[in-house]
Amino acid sequence: MHDPSRLTPWVSARHGADKAVLYEELARELDSLLTGETDSVANAANSAAAIYHALPQLNWAGFYFLRGGELVVGPFQGRPACVRIAIGKGVCGTAAAERRSVLVPDVEAFPGHITCDTASRSELVVPLFRGQTLLGVLDLDSPVLARFDAADQAGCEALARVIAPRVG
Ligand code: SME
Repeated sequence: MHDPSRLTPWVSARHGADKAVLYEELARELDSLLTGETDSVANAANSAAAIYHALPQLNWAGFYFLRGGELVVGPFQGRPACVRIAIGKGVCGTAAAERRSVLVPDVEAFPGHITCDTASRSELVVPLFRGQTLLGVLDLDSPVLARFDAADQAGCEALARVIAPRVG
């Protein structure tokens, strides 16, 4: 169970740490933060906040959930975002359609990228599954070109496995 009296661990000075270690720590923190709470919105909101404050160089972190055959924005941190994204459209809709993570080093080079915040330069979108069922996607945006690499993708896929059973 998350102890609210603890100093928030995700704003520590670990930003210089090895990425794999950072993501392992964050996965543990998320597991602890979400354990014992069954409300989907509360869990998605706290997950977005924890990720946004743990990972450096982000301008948006949050969720799009599958609702009635399209993606609808869920809890997030960052500037207001486009609300609905069709499956197959943009980076989020592509990740949902292809049921795989999509890593975009330069959003201007991704055909059909949907601009929500003009500051975004690179993006990582990871699908969330419950069993074989697609629940939605976790979306991270950065104002830095090529901010995300394979280690971020693997780390965020691990985070998605922690989060998915508690949201959607
Ligand atoms: N850029 C995304 C849209 C969502 S925002 O980045 C928050 C896309 O192309 O799907």
